[in-house]
Amino acid sequence: MANRKSFSEVKETVLAAHKDVDPEGKVKFYDSWADNYEQDVETLEYRAPYLAAETLSSAFQGNRDLAVILDVACGTGLVVSWLHKMGFRNFHGIDGSEGMLEMAKTKGLYQNLKCCMLGTETLSSPISFYDAVLLVGALSVGHVPVEVIWELCKVTKPGGYICMTTRANNTNIHYKDQLESLQRSMEEKGLWKKIAVREVEKWERAVSESDCVYISGVVYLYRKTCVES
Ligand SMILES: C[S@@+](CC[C@H](N)C(=O)[O-])C[C@H]1O[C@@H](n2cnc3c(N)ncnc32)[C@H](O)[C@@H]1O
Repeated sequence: MANRKSFSEVKETVLAAHKDVDPEGKVKFYDSWADNYEQDVETLEYRAPYLAAETLSSAFQGNRDLAVILDVACGTGLVVSWLHKMGFRNFHGIDGSEGMLEMAKTKGLYQNLKCCMLGTETLSSPISFYDAVLLVGALSVGHVPVEVIWELCKVTKPGGYICMTTRANNTNIHYKDQLESLQRSMEEKGLWKKIAVREVEKWERAVSESDCVYISGVVYLYRKTCVES
């Protein structure tokens, strides 16, 4: 691992990532960032993994030892590190970047890790299988297409939880609107029910000049209500 970077250096790294809108280019970027990712997001004061884990943990009813959790776009495994501290034990992870998956493997917390390009490939996980599914830090413009949330719901057990996050800064407003519109339409179809929406002012430090010092973000928690045919 390299020496800790300054905030300006991390900012440059993240802005470079934002330029790459092609999904293949994006995961290649994550391959190259994997070694320094955790150190850099700490500098950014990135809190989404903790906030999502804590939101799920507060609402979760059931046996934490037995619950099986799918961490989608798992990256290096920050979400699962928090969930493990909160008493959960069984984790599967999916990400499009082999480099990030390699780092996740070193945590020794996942029973299963798979490479999958969301939006291009469908989730190969069994239908109605997971007690909870999370997608943290990757539902945003240039990352995972909003339509993937259908698949998150599909692989969750009836009564299971789906926890998602997105950014609420200027460059992601259109994406956030699309995400919320699809979430509403899935609720109207009776697929899931909203449990909590947590709007957080200090989500992470801003890297773009068009934002304030911190950008805000949102954690959404849904509960699956029906089995799809
Ligand atoms: C900001 S990181 C978030 C990682 C982790 N969930 C966290 O909060 O630390 C975004 C992750 O999404 C993955 N990713 C981005 N677009 C993807 C796609 N289309 N399919 C699969 N993974 C993708 C990247 O490889 C990266 O690991």
